[in-house]
Parts: sequence; structure tokens; C-alpha cells
Amino acid sequence: MLSTQESTPLIDPSLEAIRSIAMGRLDGEDGTIPVEDPATQQIIATVPNHTTVNALEAVTLADSAGREWGKTTPRHRSDILHAAYAHLIDSKDRLAALISREMGKPLAEAHGEVQYASDYVRWFAEEILRGSGGYRESPSGGSTIITTQGPVGLSVLITPWNFPLAMATRKIAPALAAGCGVVIKPATLTPLTTYLVVQLLEEAGVPQGLVQVVTTRNSSAFSEAVLTDPRVRKLSFTGSTPVGSTLMELAAKNIIKSSMELGGNAPLLVFDDADLERAAEQAMLAKMRNNGQTCVAANRILVQNGIADAFVEALTEKTRALRLGNPLDEATTLGPVIDHRAVERLSQLVNDAIAKGATLRTGGSVPDAPGYFFEATVLDDIPINADITSTEIFGPVAAISRFSTEEEAIRLANDTPFGLAGYVFTENADRAFNVAESLETGMVGINQGMISNVAAPFGGVKQSGLGREGSSEGLEEYQETKYFNLARRSSS
Ligand code: SIN
Repeated sequence: MLSTQESTPLIDPSLEAIRSIAMGRLDGEDGTIPVEDPATQQIIATVPNHTTVNALEAVTLADSAGREWGKTTPRHRSDILHAAYAHLIDSKDRLAALISREMGKPLAEAHGEVQYASDYVRWFAEEILRGSGGYRESPSGGSTIITTQGPVGLSVLITPWNFPLAMATRKIAPALAAGCGVVIKPATLTPLTTYLVVQLLEEAGVPQGLVQVVTTRNSSAFSEAVLTDPRVRKLSFTGSTPVGSTLMELAAKNIIKSSMELGGNAPLLVFDDADLERAAEQAMLAKMRNNGQTCVAANRILVQNGIADAFVEALTEKTRALRLGNPLDEATTLGPVIDHRAVERLSQLVNDAIAKGATLRTGGSVPDAPGYFFEATVLDDIPINADITSTEIFGPVAAISRFSTEEEAIRLANDTPFGLAGYVFTENADRAFNVAESLETGMVGINQGMISNVAAPFGGVKQSGLGREGSSEGLEEYQETKYFNLARRSSS
């Protein structure tokens, strides 16, 4: 059922404030970019359409601020990031409402994102204090090897629309902790949260100018301009594999250190010996979180024949219970998808699967109401040739296929060029580990549909990316190792 409650004026006053911050940062932009509320299709704000001149000015400002920032002590940077954590948490209602409004996730999930995003800031505030240099004797004697970790330098961060706050802090926090200046380019669909978070960081003590926000319709001109600038030393991108590949080509010219968090096609395997209720509940989380729009979403749900009917029934019942509506309405548990293209893509994928023989258990339609809504959908018996098996769905559509043996399940699961996340549900510990080890993915949830955690290395293999975010590895992505070779002579 679609709740059509109008957006409340919860955050409208601050949207004007955000707009004026945006306008004040870099002058001479080429017009503005409207930001739409996907639940109502209303324009809720505008942000500047920055030019490449603006982008290069941002590089100059962030580079010069970054060089000073890189000389500060880890304790100084840590203290400011701790203050930023507290300020983000104090601002949680404002941030959550803005995320829901510009991106469309239900308010409760937006609150979850604020905590998740803030946790990255706290995590890297702590992690930078650990220090990671080394001291060792050369094996043949005669010298001592000393290693240090310094900031990699000016970092360009390109973030997606699906987690406008968490993907920003997952990159900004380690960059700042390591001592780098930042130029961040958020998706034009959801730029407001980035402007707001940068304002909050500055209020908490991050020096003005250290984090520059660039918003532009012309992403390729931006990338070409900044990634060929020799001052830029780091690129971190979250988005699609084709765009990541193009960015890597540009970054290759100046040998820029690059982290890529790219597309996924996560298999979720449910074996006959799984805990049925847990598997269905966690599959809902892995599939429907964020309105189905995460790169770790369960894209292909593969269920063993013996449990399949019961699992499909349980998942269908839970899917029917979702309440589609305006994300600011507290009763809503499923919001809109991001734009009209997403609605069209989902309709095509569902229709193609049904035409090729899949069974529609629930949903499948576009409600007749304003906003970019798509019903929560369960498709069963997906044939191997359906487009949905090889496409990142990025929406609330559960695509279920069946298998008979463990070997078949692993073969189907790995039959993709992507390798971000996978999930396995079984009560047999040996099977859980054997299957988890066999999955060609960077991350595996075992009896668990939620794998995201600031302390864990988030990232993929194959065409799903390079590098890791979060954990200690997420900090190293913004550091360079340097070693000193100290000649040793006998003191006698
Ligand atoms: C993503 O979809 O890119 C990130 C998901 C997450 O951090 O959980």
C-alpha cells in the first residue's frame, strides 16, 4: 500500500542554508543543478554547477590547506575528528531528514546511516593514533630499516547517491586522519548531504578549505581536469564498474593511487539445513535495505530444492508486509528508488524475467502516484538466461533461483565477473566455511545479511574493485610508506 503523505517541512529552512553555503564556496559556476525529492518529484534545492576552473581552484585550495594539515600531529587530527563525531551525532535529526529527503530511504534507515557514517569518523580518529611504522635490522647486517607512514597527499573522492553521508565519511575521515586535503565530488542526485556534512566538520574544527566540495553535471570534464593535475595523489571512487574503469585509465597517466568500490552481483545461498526464519529475515535485510539500492544487495538468491518452497513463502510474506511510502512518514519501511530511470530499469528486468518463465510471487508494478516508486517484488524460478541474473538490480526486487547440490550452488554463485559480496545460510559450520572460502568475493556474510561494519575491510575482487575501506586497511589507502636505511657501523 502506498502512503502518499506530503513531505513535512522538517528540514526546509536548512535547505536554504545549505544552498547559501554551496553558493559561497567556489565562485563563477555555470548555473545551478536542481535537486529533486524522489518521493514527490519536487525540487527541494539547487547547488552550483561547477566548472573545471572551479574544480582546479578547489584543487589549489585543498592542496595548500592539506600541506599544512599534514604537518599536524596525529593527536591533533584525532581530537578534531572526535569533535566531528560528536557534532554529527548531535545533528543526527537534521542529517537523517536530509538524507531521506534527497535520497529516499526511510527515516529510520537514514538514522542508521547517520550512526554508520559517524562511526567511520570515530573509527579513523582512533585508528590514526595507533601508528604503523616499523624498525628492523637488515638481514645481512650493516643497516637498520625504519619505515614510516605519511599522508599520500591531495585526495579526490567521488561518491555515489545511495549512501550520501556514509560514503562521504568513509572516504573523508581516513583522508583527514592520515593528513590529506580533500576534493569531494558527490553525485548530483544527492549533493546536499555532502555540503551539510562539510559544514558540520568545519564547525567541529576541520580547517576551512581543507575539504572542498565540487558539484557538476559534467563529471567527465571534472575527472579529466583533476586527475591529470600533478598535485592530485589519490583517487577514491564508489560507483559503477564502467565509470571506475574510465577513471582508472585517467588516474594511470599520473600513477595516482586508486581505490575502487564498484558494482556487485551478490549471490545469497540458502541451503536445506539453514534456519529458515533467520535466512528469510536476513535475506530481506540483504535485499531490501536502502530500498534495494546497495552494491552489496543480494542480487541472486539461490535456494536449495528441499527448503525452497518454504523459503519463498516466508520471503514473500515479509515482502508483502513492507509499507511503501514517503520516507519521512514513520510508518514507511520502503521508500522510492532514486529516479525515473531506475523505475524503468526495474520494470524492464521484471518483465523480461516473467517473459522468460519466472513466476511473480508479489509486487512487480509501478504504483499510480507521484514519486519514483516500485513495488517490493519477489520473482521465483528465475531462468538462467533472464537479464536480471547478470544485471545489478539496484531496487526492491528479489530474484530467486533453485539449485540441488553445493557444487552447483558455488558454480552458479561464481558465474559473474563481479565479486563484491556473497552470503551463505546453513547450520553446518564446515559447509559455511567451505562455501564462504569458495565464493569469489571480497566479503561474505555467514548466516548474516548485514556485513557493513566500520571495523571490517569493505571491498571486492574481480570487477568489483580494488582496495578496501574501513578497518586499518582503509587508513592505509590514504598513506604512503617511506623507509629510511640507516647505515650501522661498529662502535668499537
Ligand atoms: C554501497 O552500497 O556502496 C555501500 C553499502 C554499505 O556500506 O553497506
